[in-house]
Amino acid sequence: MYNVRKVYNDLYWIGASDHRLALFENIHPIPRGVSYNSYVLMDEKNVLLDTVDWSVCPQFLENLSHLLEGKTLDYIIVHHVEPDHMASLGEVMLRYPEAQIVASAKAISMMQQFGFDVSAKAQAVKEGDVLSTGKHSLTFVMAPMVHWPEVMVSYDTLDKTLFSADAFGTFGALDGKLFNDEVNFDRDWIDDARRYYTNIVGKYGAQTMNLLKKASGLEIARICPLHGPIWRNDLEYFIDKHKHWASYTPEVQGVMIVYASIYGHTESAAQALASKLVQNGVKDVSVYDVSNIDVSYLVSEAFKYSHIVLASSTYNADIFPKMKDFLEHLKMLNLQNRTVGIMENGSWASTAGNAMKKILESMKDMTILDTEVKIMSSLNDEEKLDNFADAITQSLKAQ
Ligand code: FEO
Repeated sequence: MYNVRKVYNDLYWIGASDHRLALFENIHPIPRGVSYNSYVLMDEKNVLLDTVDWSVCPQFLENLSHLLEGKTLDYIIVHHVEPDHMASLGEVMLRYPEAQIVASAKAISMMQQFGFDVSAKAQAVKEGDVLSTGKHSLTFVMAPMVHWPEVMVSYDTLDKTLFSADAFGTFGALDGKLFNDEVNFDRDWIDDARRYYTNIVGKYGAQTMNLLKKASGLEIARICPLHGPIWRNDLEYFIDKHKHWASYTPEVQGVMIVYASIYGHTESAAQALASKLVQNGVKDVSVYDVSNIDVSYLVSEAFKYSHIVLASSTYNADIFPKMKDFLEHLKMLNLQNRTVGIMENGSWASTAGNAMKKILESMKDMTILDTEVKIMSSLNDEEKLDNFADAITQSLKAQ
């Protein structure tokens, strides 16, 4: 059954949601599924804006065929060639051989890399180029590394619609909803939006800030991303979130405690610390067992909080492996500008603390608190924990 929704005037959504995929990019869990958004602009020339992942290709083709009702497809704009958006291009080319492909030069060469022979029908566009389709004009804006180097976005000057590619996307299947005002985004979606941005695009904060700067010069009525709801009001809310994430600015003055505990003693100390922080009046404290949660969630929370406490057992004379993996993710994604407190545990030859500090010192603008907690097997010294909690609380107040 086709499933098409009108977005505005001549613009339609013809994408689909996927609840079967367990791991996005074969790495990030998506228990709420994901949507692959594709759009069609019906004008004197009909334009398809991106295709979809192979998993939802049959639904997408049915939607496209239903909407066109035998009309010609004149253009296919490819904003981003990652296969979650381009895998179905070959099927569209077979069904609509007259369609011209419009993309950045880099995207066209990457399409060839992925095995799509587009040489005879591809038209390269660059920054500021305009495609007129009749009433509508689409202006192309290059957005390299948001999230791949070939990415561009486009702007419909008539209806003030920004087609933002991966930017402003989120994990989560749409399940009938399409617009941000049809969901309670701040309650039900923001955590997945943060997890999507930080894990997928988080490394490229500077490039995302560039795009946000370019977008700030446009009058935007709606944002059509490639994943998740279309934004048609309250745009500033979501733009502001992206400004925080892309500039590595914490959203929340609070403490994220992440512990790596083998037999529960480090866990016990981490919980006692959380309790002391709350009693110190710290409003936002969250605690995570690094062994019991996928790292993508931890990355997302690290982008959210101003303060992070890393409490790790020593393991094979190093950081507990899952904690090390978390820290390496933070480094890889360029997280910066955070205050970090260190707790280490080791029954003999404790090394986790220094090893964690070494990674943190190789990151940008990370402040490591002087006050630390060293545990030998189990913690029985409340004063140590009090001093640590007070140092964290002071640091929060000072910011
Ligand atoms: Fe949703 Fe970078 O592709």
